[in-house]
Amino acid sequence: MAQDMMDAAYFRHTGGSDVIEFGPLPVPQLPDHAVLVRVAATAVNHVDTFVRSGGYATALSFPQAIGRDATGTVERVGAAVDAPFRPGDPVWSNSLGFGGRSGAGAAFTVVPADRLYPLPAGVDPVEAAAVLHAGATAWLALHRHAGVQPGDTVFVGGGTGQVGSALVVQAVRAGARVITSSSADDAGHCRSLGATATLDYRSPALMDELAAAARSVSGGRGLDVHIETSGRHQLEAAVEMLALRGRIIALSGMAATNALPLGRLYTRDGSVHGFAISNATVGELADAARAVNELLADGSLRARHITRLPLSGAAGAHAAMEAGTARGKLVLIP
Ligand SMILES: NC(=O)c1ccc[n+]([C@@H]2O[C@H](COP(=O)([O-])OP(=O)(O)OC[C@H]3O[C@@H](n4cnc5c(N)ncnc54)[C@H](OP(=O)(O)O)[C@@H]3O)[C@@H](O)[C@H]2O)c1
Repeated sequence: MAQDMMDAAYFRHTGGSDVIEFGPLPVPQLPDHAVLVRVAATAVNHVDTFVRSGGYATALSFPQAIGRDATGTVERVGAAVDAPFRPGDPVWSNSLGFGGRSGAGAAFTVVPADRLYPLPAGVDPVEAAAVLHAGATAWLALHRHAGVQPGDTVFVGGGTGQVGSALVVQAVRAGARVITSSSADDAGHCRSLGATATLDYRSPALMDELAAAARSVSGGRGLDVHIETSGRHQLEAAVEMLALRGRIIALSGMAATNALPLGRLYTRDGSVHGFAISNATVGELADAARAVNELLADGSLRARHITRLPLSGAAGAHAAMEAGTARGKLVLIP
């Protein structure tokens, strides 16, 4: 292949997973304030399918390489970059493939320098790629949006999912007591992440059991923070078990609608706060990146199962994610 060309997984218009093509594209031009990164790994996240399908409207630059998260090494540094990046440095970004930026699903990608972070020494780039999106989402949800405090009681619905497990680990680290829902088989895993109480999400009495757990774990106060990652919301019951000034963080369920008992919500100073990492500022993402790097460096942020696939398998990976048949966290390797 010519030196200025590279392999990429890209799409020319939004649509189903079959719009993804694999083949040569020009290596992106390097603007002065950006860094050219040789990609080692890129994860497949739900949001990548929303961007590709057009379900999440954002600026795209066709042919658009897929992928938001990349780990890799610095190849070349733009002339006006004053951050201390040097060729060969291990780095990562979780801001790619939307908002008009290059995608991560290619041999090379261009990253604005203020959206590029060092990858801690000794951290495997594939394992890191698997947890970047969930790790940063969880940090922003808990610290930027929920204002989690030591002693809070936090509910994480879907405690073994990518975002759910990152929420459990980080809420526990923040000094909160955590209640999770998961399949019954995964209760032990939730406890190993630090959950105090675990519930079976298939139980017909789940919301009654959650209300009882919230009372018992919080000493009668109720839930300070409620985050459901499965998209299956039950706000009527959730509001009922909120502590005074409790916060419900809405971050899942693109098509979800739900009845909200407003009177019960406002009379306890409760709030429902929507949040999407795609709207995070450069500063918020950098704060989250620092926290993610600490968790990567001490090994506490980890994917449970990783399925490594060649980048040429990107269309199949998107299809599996959308069909719910993906096994573990899908990571594409250029
Ligand atoms: N707002 C944002 O910024 C943002 C950022 C990242 C992700 N998200 C969204 O967050 C959601 C989760 O993403 P993810 O990557 O963590 O997905 P995921 O790994 O597929 O996790 C989903 C979790 O939901 C669990 N689940 C399935 N059915 C359930 C039920 N009836 N009750 C409770 N839990 C149930 C799954 O359990 P099993 O493993 O047993 O199936 C799994 O643990 C997605 O909707 C994604 O789009 C939002």
